[in-house]
Amino acid sequence: MSAEVATETRPGRVGLGRRALRIGVIPGDGTGPEVVGEALRVLDAVKEGFDVELERFDLGAERYLRTGETLPDEELVRLAGCDAILLGAVGDPRVPPGILERELLLRIRFELDQYINLRPIVRYPGVKTLVPHHADTDVDMVVVRENSEGLYTGAGGFHRKGTPHEVAVQESINTRHGVERLVWYAFDLAMRPGRHRKVTLVHKTNVLTYAGDLYQRVVDEMGAAFPDVETDYTHVDAACLYLIEDPSRFDVIVTDNMFGDIITDLGAMIQGGMGIAAGGNINPDGVSMFEPIGGTAPDHAGKGTINPLAAIGAVHMLLNELGETDAAATRASGSRAPSSTRCAPARWASPRPRSATSWSKGCRREPPRRALRHDAPRRSAGDRLLLHDRGPAAHPAQARSARRAVHRGWVARGEPA
Ligand code: IPM
Ligand code: MN
Repeated sequence: MSAEVATETRPGRVGLGRRALRIGVIPGDGTGPEVVGEALRVLDAVKEGFDVELERFDLGAERYLRTGETLPDEELVRLAGCDAILLGAVGDPRVPPGILERELLLRIRFELDQYINLRPIVRYPGVKTLVPHHADTDVDMVVVRENSEGLYTGAGGFHRKGTPHEVAVQESINTRHGVERLVWYAFDLAMRPGRHRKVTLVHKTNVLTYAGDLYQRVVDEMGAAFPDVETDYTHVDAACLYLIEDPSRFDVIVTDNMFGDIITDLGAMIQGGMGIAAGGNINPDGVSMFEPIGGTAPDHAGKGTINPLAAIGAVHMLLNELGETDAAATRASGSRAPSSTRCAPARWASPRPRSATSWSKGCRREPPRRALRHDAPRRSAGDRLLLHDRGPAAHPAQARSARRAVHRGWVARGEPA
């Protein structure tokens, strides 16, 4: 079959040499619809060499209040049939907390296994922030937030609810599988052009001694498989301090779901505000969803007062994830900052040279943490994490990325499957 006549149903249908991207659009609640409207105008302006089919979804508070539905299964199936999804925001003061968040937003993240929540924190030159001592170049990092487990799974429950002896349990679920695929993504990202080969684990290992220990061990093990990447560790409370005091110490932050949620709001503020911060819920092998992370801002809805740049940044990330890097770069050149392509997760702009001094400023040089832990059981060579022996190239996630690249037509479009 020649490239010209190759057709696929998804992702990225190719017909007569032109790719059609089916983009699911969930405008959602509050200011979601208006910022998504602006972002779609940008998408329309930058698309070149490919077509876009928009598939709109009526999901969010209005539908819930009208019909009682949050995310009917058939809508989920339609979402799963898209190449990517653009989401405005969900949440509404008329709906009790948790309903739309859990049954719509989190359900999409979980059901589509969007296990990475990728949140670039970059500062566009000239943007003023609340932290006057930050130079533009000090703020350039990506938070790789776990997006499929942790405290967000909903595990837990009440006992004797409503009584004086009430018990409320909210459990954090952390699986080795989940932590490994997350941490692998972070290390792989740190190696990409434009990044600075440093991964910082942000956790609370001094208190969360089970979950934190698992995270730390996986980072140590994975670090050995990525010898060119420096690893560091910061407690989450200290990370908040450093995000203000010296953000240049961070390149790639890897963290759990809840800590990632919290520190990325702070991250948005050192970028210049929630109106600028974009994020992606990524399933590297499936359907990813991109969103401005600022929420619904219901007080501003309909007033045109919310900056659409975060939604436009979400489109930028979406295009990069789908391999439409030229279109993404066009969108970047339309903003005031050519370097703003740095806000995209993949195939970043050219590396920013960083002096050794600016690097070492933020880096603690410590012996590997495992060497400090006398209680850590010694592993035999045989039961060491397989990654050590196979090297990063052999991690299943990498093989899957390569397959996906071919499947999506980035590498060998049109070759017989
Ligand atoms: C976010 C939001 C969501 C989260 C809420 C709306 C469930 O705060 O995307 O950061 O906590 O993940
Ligand atoms: Mn949040």
